[in-house]
Amino acid sequence: MKNEALDIYAKIEDLLGVKDVAPKLYSYYFFILEDLHFNSLLDIGCGSGDFLRSLAMQYPQRNLMGIDRSQVMVESAQAKGVNAVNVELDSIEEQFDIATATFDMVNYLNQDELLDFFETLAQVILKGGYFIFDINSEYGLSELAVGSFIEDDGDRFIAIESFYEDGIYDSEFTLFEKCDSLYKKSIGNIKQYLHNESFFNQLDGWKLKKRLPIKLYDMQDYDKEIYILERV
Ligand SMILES: C[S@@+](CC[C@H](N)C(=O)[O-])C[C@H]1O[C@@H](n2cnc3c(N)ncnc32)[C@H](O)[C@@H]1O
Repeated sequence: MKNEALDIYAKIEDLLGVKDVAPKLYSYYFFILEDLHFNSLLDIGCGSGDFLRSLAMQYPQRNLMGIDRSQVMVESAQAKGVNAVNVELDSIEEQFDIATATFDMVNYLNQDELLDFFETLAQVILKGGYFIFDINSEYGLSELAVGSFIEDDGDRFIAIESFYEDGIYDSEFTLFEKCDSLYKKSIGNIKQYLHNESFFNQLDGWKLKKRLPIKLYDMQDYDKEIYILERV
């Protein structure tokens, strides 16, 4: 996936309504973390840093760090005082007690990429540590997130077309951003991949501790699943 598409997403995320439901999602993570002992936490795909910022308020003495593939996201997180960097997971040399990936980051990786990701993450998380993440369910991807979305706040016009087929959710973004008296057009495409419990159950070096289906949007079926994996 090209970083440009992630940067487009970063520029328009505030128009998508995800910030309204994020506190509800984060509250599950806080609930889970309450029961775990940790001194250090790496948030992967930290985005604009809201989760890490809330975490820093609750756990001021811990070593908290975020990484994100989008430079635009990282700058936005840094502007909030969050310790975030635009590096890939495989360049992290430090080890952490816990890793998190909030709001779908794991869906951005296809199965092969995810296998590599878990292999790399196993080097970064200390034995006995945890990886906590959420993914969109099939209902979330195929029913809730599909269709057309248009928003215009004067400085930005965004159109998104999203489709789902055979476990792949595809979003095409068109953004017009105001630059002086002109509009700059950017287009990008982000794919999300459906993953299921059996995949997370057979990963070398990891033990599935819990899968928690949740209804973030209060619809008839669950739209996300939170997973807790232990590094073994
Ligand atoms: C839907 S956003 C969620 C952001 C943030 N975690 C939150 O809760 O608001 C997904 C984030 O994952 C980042 N991302 C996607 N793939 C990534 C990867 N392989 N490594 C690091 N970040 C990634 C994107 O740039 C984006 O910021």
